[in-house]
Amino acid sequence: MAQLIDGKQLSDAVVASLAEETSQFAAEFGLLPGLAVVLVGEDPASQVYVRNKVRQATAAGMRSIEHRLPKETTQQALNSLIETLNQDPEVHGILVQLPLPAHLSEPDIIQLIAVEKDVDGFHPLNVGALASGNGELIPCTPLGCMLMLQQVHDDLSGQHAVVIGRSNIVGKPMAQLLLQANCTVTVVHSRTRNIEAICREADIVIAAVGRPEMVKSSWIKPGATVIDVGINAIEREGKRKLVGDVDYQSVSDIAGSISPVPGGVGPMTIACLLKNTMKAALLQQTA
Ligand code: GUN
Repeated sequence: MAQLIDGKQLSDAVVASLAEETSQFAAEFGLLPGLAVVLVGEDPASQVYVRNKVRQATAAGMRSIEHRLPKETTQQALNSLIETLNQDPEVHGILVQLPLPAHLSEPDIIQLIAVEKDVDGFHPLNVGALASGNGELIPCTPLGCMLMLQQVHDDLSGQHAVVIGRSNIVGKPMAQLLLQANCTVTVVHSRTRNIEAICREADIVIAAVGRPEMVKSSWIKPGATVIDVGINAIEREGKRKLVGDVDYQSVSDIAGSISPVPGGVGPMTIACLLKNTMKAALLQQTA
């Protein structure tokens, strides 16, 4: 049976340690690290994520400012909110929850966020910095996955990591971080031939495709490390259930270690958002 990589426990430790840093920050600078979270519309999953982000920011002693806007919000109105937050010295981090309603441009909004307040690490300048090995604000989910991998690998050097999925939010930055840790990295996606055979070669599998329980035990080399980024709501036996991109039941029999869903990557994403907020706040206060 695989070792469990407990994201909840690890994130609690990260948040507790951030709470100490927050007190030191407040004593030194006379204000709290501030995170503004912007949610447009009523997407149910986004509402849950935003609620959890605000709750954990408070647990870390930070100031969180929530902006809920109706789904009809215009690009101009959203731009104007971002410009106000960019100018506010008490806001150190700005997160606009994605996806946005279809009439709003995600790239335009992401570019408008001040680079130094972009705690998601999605601004093109932060994406470029990460790609060239100088990233400061690194996308939260891949950063959380790296902290989880460090729980079970002292050294990632030379490990063959297969990333399933090529999104801007997870797959691409994940591949960059694994490369920087000296892994041999393969990115597979919906057009890849023989995904199963490629995954079976991997020492580390990161599943980030958004397909419930796609990764089966036949895809996994015995003893491999499996990190499951997926959070999919499904109906099973008449009940709503959250499952990952990995078939946990069968894969946990063959993997060396595995992260669960829920209680795996999800809480680590939020912990890393708060780490980025602290980093952004320190960089801004000492600039
Ligand atoms: N939607 C899904 N994941 C994320 C994330 O990491 N950040 C933001 N802003 N939106 C998301």
